[in-house]
Amino acid sequence: MRLDKFLSVTATATRSEAAKAVRAHRVLVNGVPPKNAAQQIDPERDVVEYGGRVVTYRAHHYILLNKPAGYVSATDDGREQTVLDLLPEKYTELGLFPCGRLDKNTLGLMLLTDDGELAHRLLSPRRHVTKRYYFKVKFPLTAEECARFRAGLVLEDGYETKPADIALCEDMHSGVITLVEGKYHQIKRMMLALHNQITHLERISFGPLTLPQDLARGAWRPLTPEEEQALLAAAE
Ligand code: URA
Repeated sequence: MRLDKFLSVTATATRSEAAKAVRAHRVLVNGVPPKNAAQQIDPERDVVEYGGRVVTYRAHHYILLNKPAGYVSATDDGREQTVLDLLPEKYTELGLFPCGRLDKNTLGLMLLTDDGELAHRLLSPRRHVTKRYYFKVKFPLTAEECARFRAGLVLEDGYETKPADIALCEDMHSGVITLVEGKYHQIKRMMLALHNQITHLERISFGPLTLPQDLARGAWRPLTPEEEQALLAAAE
């Protein structure tokens, strides 16, 4: 693999940053400055240092993002800002994409990855990966409506949702919904079926991942090794 590609796929630097760093002697391969950024390296064996730090090769990237409102869940969009616009440039060359969708005005936990196989597994309807959402609605919900929600509802297009859980707060206007499927605008449409309206929606968990309290809106971080293990196990 070319050295600049290695630095790019490990999200260390863009290819042009890599070329500049090589010229500035800030890159070492097995302790020796490389001739240029096109030099071939063996990612499994060679020790690459960038700015004094050893770069570890990884096949895939897993990023946890706290999505703010106003961003679409896409890799690129002619008109709207996408969730990928929230990451620094060195991440743009990795081929990351959102694993599942949140509406433009939905907030919270979003996984970004370049691992197509894992995403395919996690999103497979057969796997029933659970997603939890904190919500607020316009009108108070009754116990009878919550029971209908739990049993599964018929949406306006005739689709019958799987049973979903709803835990209501004392104010009857907010709570936590747990889904095991992810149809287009599902929660909004479920509330419409109850003649109600979502006013706030935030994903607080996706499978084994939970939205960290200390991750500000719009901020992101790589999964911890424990989170990554749990996610891979959930996709088994
Ligand atoms: N349900 C919705 O209606 N919107 C989302 O973004 C996620 C679940």
